[in-house]
Amino acid sequence: MITVGLIGCGNIGRIIASGQKNFKITAVYDIIPGIVEEFAREFGAKPFSDFVAFLSEPTDIIVEAASIAAATEHAQEVLQAGKDMIIMSVGALANDEFRLHLVETARMLKRKIHIPSGAVMGLDNIRIGQISRVDKFVLRTTKSPESLSREAIGRTRLFSGKAHDCVLLYPKNTNVAESLSIACDRDVDVELWMDPNEDRNVHEIFFEGEFGEAYIRIRNIPSPGNPATSYLAALSILTLLKNLDNPLVIGA
Ligand SMILES: NC(=O)c1ccc[n+]([C@@H]2O[C@H](COP(=O)([O-])OP(=O)(O)OC[C@H]3O[C@@H](n4cnc5c(N)ncnc54)[C@H](O)[C@@H]3O)[C@@H](O)[C@H]2O)c1
Repeated sequence: MITVGLIGCGNIGRIIASGQKNFKITAVYDIIPGIVEEFAREFGAKPFSDFVAFLSEPTDIIVEAASIAAATEHAQEVLQAGKDMIIMSVGALANDEFRLHLVETARMLKRKIHIPSGAVMGLDNIRIGQISRVDKFVLRTTKSPESLSREAIGRTRLFSGKAHDCVLLYPKNTNVAESLSIACDRDVDVELWMDPNEDRNVHEIFFEGEFGEAYIRIRNIPSPGNPATSYLAALSILTLLKNLDNPLVIGA
């Protein structure tokens, strides 16, 4: 049984805790003390409001499902404590200096940083961009005003530019862009649209290169607990956890 320390007792944290099978969440940490106590009681874990104490618990892996701030603040400490980590708030890795330093720390300490596929599909073979020519790589994301916490107006383009610039303006909406950028080892072109006629979180990927061309379209159902988060993202981290101890590795 894999033991998990969870940072973030929100929407994704709850879905992970509800799907425990080959892993057990034994320690939980959140900045909101009331939430962490209630969550710990409900799922039989130990609650922590002190991060150092949380990290000292004997867990196999730490899952961050909290915020870019949490990933930025704690990822180094987690690796330094000799633990592997799963990062859900991938936007934190858009900062080149931070990401390179983190990866170097993991390399030195022989630790792994896992990034779940999250709210997107196709990350497996998009990695060919690391070794072969790419001519076009565009992510077009379309969300409802509710998902973006904005006033409804007609279909509007909110952003067009590079993923690393998008993260500065729309930090909660750049996880997919950053995951694609890391997979392909380049700063992907991003368009972010708001559409009052769309009730799902839609990601369209246009990928062309030496291999041929691909078009991937994902229409995600928003999570019941947080419309900004696609339910697929929570399913994705659950699947990653399920496969951690599986000797047969597929799609990697
Ligand atoms: N990789 C992807 O494709 C993908 C997809 C969807 C969401 N996400 C990211 O996953 C994260 C969690 O999403 P969610 O829907 O569960 O959010 P949520 O807001 O429902 O829950 C987040 C929880 O983390 C806690 N938290 C926030 N900052 C913290 C900190 N610094 N230290 C400790 N706890 C902290 C909050 O109090 C809250 O309980 C978000 O950052 C979101 O952007 C990633």
